[in-house]
Amino acid sequence: MEQFKGQPRLPKFAVPKRYDIRLKPDLSSCNFSGSVVIDVDVVADTRFLVLNTANLSVNTSSISFTSRNRTFQVFQLSKVEIFEDDEILVLEFEKSLPIGEGALAIEFDGILSDKMKGFYRSTYEHNGEKKSMAGTQFEPADARKCFPCWDEPAFKATFKITLDVPADLVALSNMPVTEEKVVGQLKTVSYKESPIMSTYLVAIVVGLFDYVEDHTSDGDKLYRYFATPYSLPKLDMVAIPDFAFKAMENYGLVTYRETALLYDDQHSAAANKQQVAIVVTHELAHQWFGNLVTMEWWTDLWLNEGFATWVCYLATDSLFPEWKIWTQFLDEFVEGLKLDGLEGSHPIEVEVKHASEIQEIFDAISYKKGASVIRMLQSYLGAECFQWSLGLYIERHASSNAKTEDLWAALEEGSGEPVNRCLGTYKDLYVKIDKWQSHFLASGSHGDGEWIVPITLCCGSYDNRKSVLLETRSTTLDIETRIGGEDDGTSAICSWIKLNIDQTGFYRVKYDEDLAARLRDAIENKYLSATDRFGILDDSFALCMARQQSLISLLTLMAAYWDDHDYTVLSNLIAISYRLERNAADAVPELLDFIKQFFISLFQESAEKLGWQPKAGESHLDAMLRGEVLTALAVFGHDPTLNEASRRFHVFLNDRNTPLLPPDLRKAAYVAVMQRTSAFERSGYESLLRVYRESDLSQEKTRVLSSLASCPDPNIILEVLNFLSSPEVRNQDAVLGLSVSREGRETAWTWMKFASTEKAEEIEEFFASRRRPSMARTLKQSIERVHINARWVQSVQTDEHLAEAVKQLAMQH
Ligand SMILES: *[C@@H]1O[C@H](CO)[C@@H](O)[C@H](O)[C@H]1NC(C)=O
Ligand SMILES: *[C@@H]1O[C@H](CO)[C@@H](O)[C@H](O)[C@H]1NC(C)=O
Ligand SMILES: *[C@@H]1O[C@H](CO)[C@@H](O)[C@H](O)[C@H]1NC(C)=O
Ligand SMILES: *[C@@H]1O[C@H](CO)[C@@H](O)[C@H](O)[C@H]1NC(C)=O
Ligand SMILES: [Zn+2]
Repeated sequence: MEQFKGQPRLPKFAVPKRYDIRLKPDLSSCNFSGSVVIDVDVVADTRFLVLNTANLSVNTSSISFTSRNRTFQVFQLSKVEIFEDDEILVLEFEKSLPIGEGALAIEFDGILSDKMKGFYRSTYEHNGEKKSMAGTQFEPADARKCFPCWDEPAFKATFKITLDVPADLVALSNMPVTEEKVVGQLKTVSYKESPIMSTYLVAIVVGLFDYVEDHTSDGDKLYRYFATPYSLPKLDMVAIPDFAFKAMENYGLVTYRETALLYDDQHSAAANKQQVAIVVTHELAHQWFGNLVTMEWWTDLWLNEGFATWVCYLATDSLFPEWKIWTQFLDEFVEGLKLDGLEGSHPIEVEVKHASEIQEIFDAISYKKGASVIRMLQSYLGAECFQWSLGLYIERHASSNAKTEDLWAALEEGSGEPVNRCLGTYKDLYVKIDKWQSHFLASGSHGDGEWIVPITLCCGSYDNRKSVLLETRSTTLDIETRIGGEDDGTSAICSWIKLNIDQTGFYRVKYDEDLAARLRDAIENKYLSATDRFGILDDSFALCMARQQSLISLLTLMAAYWDDHDYTVLSNLIAISYRLERNAADAVPELLDFIKQFFISLFQESAEKLGWQPKAGESHLDAMLRGEVLTALAVFGHDPTLNEASRRFHVFLNDRNTPLLPPDLRKAAYVAVMQRTSAFERSGYESLLRVYRESDLSQEKTRVLSSLASCPDPNIILEVLNFLSSPEVRNQDAVLGLSVSREGRETAWTWMKFASTEKAEEIEEFFASRRRPSMARTLKQSIERVHINARWVQSVQTDEHLAEAVKQLAMQH
């Protein structure tokens, strides 16, 4: 039996075809009993069956195997062993099992854990009473904690589920109910057998739920896009109070964290609404990408997540075109670039040797870089050709599994382009320009691969475009039009050159001084699109952090955005200013006030334009922008903002529905209140706790939590940390409160090191279990970031022109 230990994958001499599962959860004792009959197809001569199990107590005397080959012969077990580290159950029989079908029956018991994985319990309040419910979270590899199974995505089978549950509760599974029988306090609920699917998509929810119901016509958008109908007869979406991720795409039964599904007209912000749309469409996209066509193994996780992330923007854009969601996609794009810029990054396809390593790759590379690469391909191949090729891919691999090569094959077939060679990580592109004739040189200064990069550029106008497939490390491109001259931005003369039009390519661009200055002018003169303004800013910030560009030139560029009112551009400007403020506080504390003053002046224009009070019929984006701009002014200590926030907050305390503090403004007000809170003036903090306790909307609670730790007083930070670790805060939410102010960092660090309360351990365990296998990689990445910051701080300290320049910038605006 030892031969089965330490193997990355299960042996394939027997494959499951159908599971008949019966489960009986006991919500008061927090355990469950179950039985499963698995129809398996023995495909090679063997005396062994090897399947997954974890944290189940398997009743070994209940195990039987009945062959359906010729006779219905029962096979005697000679040995049963569980290897806990490998999470496998190995059954050895007295003689070889005949080729063909047989039925494996197993009875088992388990614990309804509180770890938000496997078959687990969650709690909620009903009429002032604390109640328990049960739910499942199986991805990536925890179905084995609920029933013994071949727990790998490629072992697809059908599932027939039966539940024994309290008669007064709602019990849901992937498929519709076929029969419900009540016996006393209990009911037995049977569900229709599912189509073939992977184990990680099986789901069960048992609890007290209210619901709304609707029917869609057959012609919904995703059906039309993929040219394949949704394959199950129903789709439930359920919010579960304790939930580890944002949502989980279980086939026909999507589960969500409350903040990602429940929307309240009175108390949800525009940002909440957008988040719900993004998450819901992401999970629905998975019903095709992931559930119908599943990755062969976790190595290709990016196929699932990259696509779902990309498709959710496509779907949201068609539902809410006024949100300009494709511009907002750039937030995902830069997260992908950021992680990919580290040495400790990984390619989108990752080798996974052990189940424990799977969790690690649910990261920005699989989701965000994956989606960015797809967007790049779509832009390169053309939307129509791309959609058509995807249809081909779905049709070809429906109800089956696929690898990355299979997708490339479909795209190549559809487009006739060498898609396969086009992928990878590219780092920086350098642009150099001569006076009358220009060329750009690409040099992969670090990294030893060569990639094929579709390069686009435009020159003086969006009508004057060029594109080239960069196939070697360096290439020269002649630009025919002349550089310089008088120009109103629309003529063909190149007064500026922008590479990577609309940021569709997954790479960064570094411009030389002259080109950068021309782009700054183009930004101020509003010649460039929002996506391009965003890209120039973000590339410049990345280059500055990498010490390839001075802080002065970054700040000078930022100044060009003082009159920019685009939500996504400004939101990134704000995010960058937060990062710079933190780093500058370490590097040049004596300049901190000037830097803050500069940032305030940058955002004031927008704040004044938007005003505090929402305008009737204003756009979704303005509503979100107002909140972010005011929050930034509060964080940088702008007194008029702090005063107005506090005035409105006090009205709100007496009337939670006051029009003076609509949901879009609340985060800003809460942050402002915490800026003025100290150990001597703690009423703001206490009022916020009251808001937290009196709200039953998770979005409101998390809004409060994410504001508390912005307080500059370390004494209050300590109290906040203790509150976060109290039973009043769910583990999954405590994490949100941990983004502490610069001033509170030391306190938080000490608290993390020495806190030994049970809850602190739980939070740590939450982190650990989310990240455990990734510890090695995540730790490496964090250490790399610390070094990058340290080197940056040093380089800024030795810049002797900085002080003068910063003071000037602060005065000018
Ligand atoms: C669940 O726990 C209760 C109380 O401890 C016990 O009586 C029962 O046998 C357990 N059931 C299972 C299936 O383990
Ligand atoms: C599963 O069992 C392992 C030990 O085998 C234990 O460390 C872990 O806490 C258990 N997990 C759950 C969810 O019960
Ligand atoms: C284990 O299974 C056998 C055979 O089905 C059954 O007789 C026995 O009661 C079971 N034991 C437990 C503890 O459930
Ligand atoms: C039954 O099992 C025997 C022995 O493994 C094998 O040779 C034979 O092909 C099987 N028959 C069928 C119908 O699968
Ligand atoms: Zn997903």
